[in-house]
Amino acid sequence: MKICVLPGDGIGPEIMAEAVRVLEALELGFEMEEGLIGGGAVDATGVPYPEATSALARAADAILLGAVGGPKWDTLPREQRPERGLLAIRKELGLFANLRPAILYPELANASSLKPEVVAGLDILIVRELTGDIYFGQPRGIEMREVDGAQQRYGFNTMHYTESEIRRIGRVAFEAARKRGKRLCSVDKMNVLETTQLWRDVMSELAADYPDVELSHMLVDNAAMQLVRAPKQFDVMVTGNMFGDILSDEASMLTGSIGMLPSASLDEHNKGLYEPSHGSAPDIAGQGVANPLATILSAAMMLRYTFGHEEAAKRVEDAVKKVLAQGLRTGDIYEPGTRRVGTREMGDAVLAAL
Ligand code: IPM
Ligand code: MG
Repeated sequence: MKICVLPGDGIGPEIMAEAVRVLEALELGFEMEEGLIGGGAVDATGVPYPEATSALARAADAILLGAVGGPKWDTLPREQRPERGLLAIRKELGLFANLRPAILYPELANASSLKPEVVAGLDILIVRELTGDIYFGQPRGIEMREVDGAQQRYGFNTMHYTESEIRRIGRVAFEAARKRGKRLCSVDKMNVLETTQLWRDVMSELAADYPDVELSHMLVDNAAMQLVRAPKQFDVMVTGNMFGDILSDEASMLTGSIGMLPSASLDEHNKGLYEPSHGSAPDIAGQGVANPLATILSAAMMLRYTFGHEEAAKRVEDAVKKVLAQGLRTGDIYEPGTRRVGTREMGDAVLAAL
């Protein structure tokens, strides 16, 4: 049981240290090895996803990742940007199924910017396709072209999906819905985009195999609106790479605390990359104040999906709930009347609760 540990940039190393301590405390015999990804990898090797990291990731059963990116690397050529490292590892390992839960912990009910009655008890799962769509479509670029009688810069990307790509992410979503509230909402833009008409058609065809799951369809603009109007109408949502990127950020903020949300990106055999939904937060990096809970909860998802250790996953999730109930809060979720702690202290509390 090998885990490739990729702390990455910004707060990545600090939050990762706590997740690694939690995994070690479980004494399940994991072998963990660290690699470079993102800006740190660019500094050390010139590329954001070096061959050594790729070899490590391919040999591992699961990958635990902190976060990548930071202002220092934002002006590099596109190929060298840290984000490219993330896209490369997703694509290379075929991690097409991105699971992004948005759960409101009762203790954090005041953290949301929405009224408590709108979000109380919120528990949504967004299933985002992660290796296709306009993110990876060719041709793409910015070049000089003569258009409308003038030489001008021309930017272009290509949106596409094959029916097999849609079907495999659809199956993941239907299966997930089957294990939860049995409702699946597929999000598209079929009134404008052919690619997403195909998306809707394939999802509708799949529904025949899952008679116990209630399938609905929604246009993406309406879905964005419904998520802030009445988010509890949703159980599982499934959508393409681009719409999923946007809607999952929106859903995460319903909980008021992106610092709490884990994610899993799985291949066909449940090999997975696990990472917090938040970014590298360069503004607070190195200060020991970042919230490690999303990374710890990502490790719990890893225990569940890749290693089948449901019980250990639950133990970790319960430990997190316990420290919240004890009133411990990092700065991102702090409110008066609770106790503000740093990254390490939060990790210590989770270990004690375990
Ligand atoms: C995410 C991020 C990435 C994405 C970026 C960093 C490439 O926003 O994981 O949602 O767009 O997929
Ligand atoms: Mg995003």
